[in-house]
Amino acid sequence: MDIKETFIKFFENKGHKYIPSSGVIPENDPTSLFTTAGMQPLVPYLMGAKHPEGTRLVDVQKCFRTNDLDAIGDTTHHTFFEMLGNWSLGDYFKEESIAYSLELLTQKFNIPIEKLAVTVFKGEDNIPRDDESANIWKKHGISEDKICYLGKDDNFWIAGGSGPCGPDTEIFYFRSNDPVPSKYDPNDERWVEIWNNVFMQYYMDENGKVTPLSQKNVDTGMGVERITAVLENKDDNYKTSIWQDVIEKIEEVSSKSYDDENYTKAMRIIADHIRAIVMISGDDAKIKPSNTDQGYILRRLIRRTIRYAKTLDIDINSDWDITLANMIIDKYEKYYSELKRNREVILAVLTNEKTKFSRTLEKGLREFNKLVNHLKGNTIDKDMAFKLYDTYGFPIELTEELAHEQNLKVDTEGFKEKFKEHQEKSRTASAGKFKGGLAGDGVIETKYHTATHLLNAALKEVVNQDVHQMGSNITAERMRFDFSCDHKLTDEEKAKTEQLVNKWINEGLPVTHEIMSKDKALKSGAECMFIEKYPDEVTVYSIGDISKELCGGPHVQNTSELGHFKIKKEESSSAGVRRIKAILE
Ligand code: SER
Repeated sequence: MDIKETFIKFFENKGHKYIPSSGVIPENDPTSLFTTAGMQPLVPYLMGAKHPEGTRLVDVQKCFRTNDLDAIGDTTHHTFFEMLGNWSLGDYFKEESIAYSLELLTQKFNIPIEKLAVTVFKGEDNIPRDDESANIWKKHGISEDKICYLGKDDNFWIAGGSGPCGPDTEIFYFRSNDPVPSKYDPNDERWVEIWNNVFMQYYMDENGKVTPLSQKNVDTGMGVERITAVLENKDDNYKTSIWQDVIEKIEEVSSKSYDDENYTKAMRIIADHIRAIVMISGDDAKIKPSNTDQGYILRRLIRRTIRYAKTLDIDINSDWDITLANMIIDKYEKYYSELKRNREVILAVLTNEKTKFSRTLEKGLREFNKLVNHLKGNTIDKDMAFKLYDTYGFPIELTEELAHEQNLKVDTEGFKEKFKEHQEKSRTASAGKFKGGLAGDGVIETKYHTATHLLNAALKEVVNQDVHQMGSNITAERMRFDFSCDHKLTDEEKAKTEQLVNKWINEGLPVTHEIMSKDKALKSGAECMFIEKYPDEVTVYSIGDISKELCGGPHVQNTSELGHFKIKKEESSSAGVRRIKAILE
């Protein structure tokens, strides 16, 4: 059975519209590096914005979570995973949601109802107990003994600290050949969670205050890897149809067996990471390995994969990685067509990063062994860790992992301080370079950054004061700016916006900044995107008296440095959000 297809068809037959996955790199949320749940890209619609495809949706979302990175190598954890979900945006609620879940599980996935149990919210902190869900489950044949009431930690769902949220009801499957116990026990690990139905009816602000949303929503999430293992009756995810061919290929290129326990963990890590690498580098956000943010995670994944390939005696300079990546692209392009489009980009990312790292890996490992042999005590100090990073390209996590294998510790805190000092030094160095007028890395990006503030201010003046920045993305070639707006800009609006930005550039307005408390910044009317994500002390950048925004910088000193501003494209980004691509020439 094709599980994804069965799920999607089932909900299409119940009036749901299939929507393609959003990026694994969030498009309009600079506060999170990755999409970690299916609901993340749908937040505006859970909050009441109209979705162009209607009020019933079904999807399979690309998700990536870094918190489990160190756990990869066991039978169940993954960095990248897929989440199936059905959505009601102010349409149906608990009654249909529970009935649909049970119908799919018992009629399409053919799970005997006796093997299912559920948990529901017991009520806490003035949010009432969810008797309604419990009664619906009972009505559909789940016995009282298979229903368990748990508190907020288990049965209340929210992403991060604030946002749309609500009580949830989780569905468990009895994964064992033992007779099914008559009563569900949350501490019995033979019961595994397979599906989560969240009844999103509240909004929680940063202070934990809960208010009802304008509409009642359903957000469900079913992990594809987990349900596949359950339905295929495998106690190791890597033995399911999802991974079998990938593992076989790794066995082939390494001439080792997955069942040889000396190699199992390395093979799982390679399989998991290669898929994640393909998904991150194949995303339309075009992430490249780097030393910050998503680029750093991508770099870590690639370097870790290479190091584990070495432990399997794979010739790392052969095209083992390209073969595996191609396999993954072929397997997943049906749902994620960007992978096909970005195939060359993905392969180039792998090849370039490998070329960089393979030159130093061998030497770095030798250096590491030398250090260990001469080590007094059991801690790798900050200077050693920094040398491995700076000279041999070992991400600190790799050094930690190598140390851990030898029962050693690393002074990671010390490393981080040294790293920061080093960064500050190189920042001062490059600032000096800018002053000297040399076009160094980052000059053009800095200009675009300032242009973003001008564009934001111009749109407010030309379109209306309700325009707010929803996201931005800058490369050396162009800037992209997403903003809330309920209509396609007219030619006149575009022309006026362009003229206004150029007028401000020509006026040579000074760009200044000031550090102040967040409160004071807000009172002074400074613009910002996600106020709760800023620290108490913030930097406010002003451009003449036309723009004032909370921002980390850097910016040019005077708008006259920007050149000529030109809008290349104005298009829809998502419902209620428009996107402008512009250049400085
Ligand atoms: N948001 C919920 C989860 O991630 C259900 O999709 O589990």
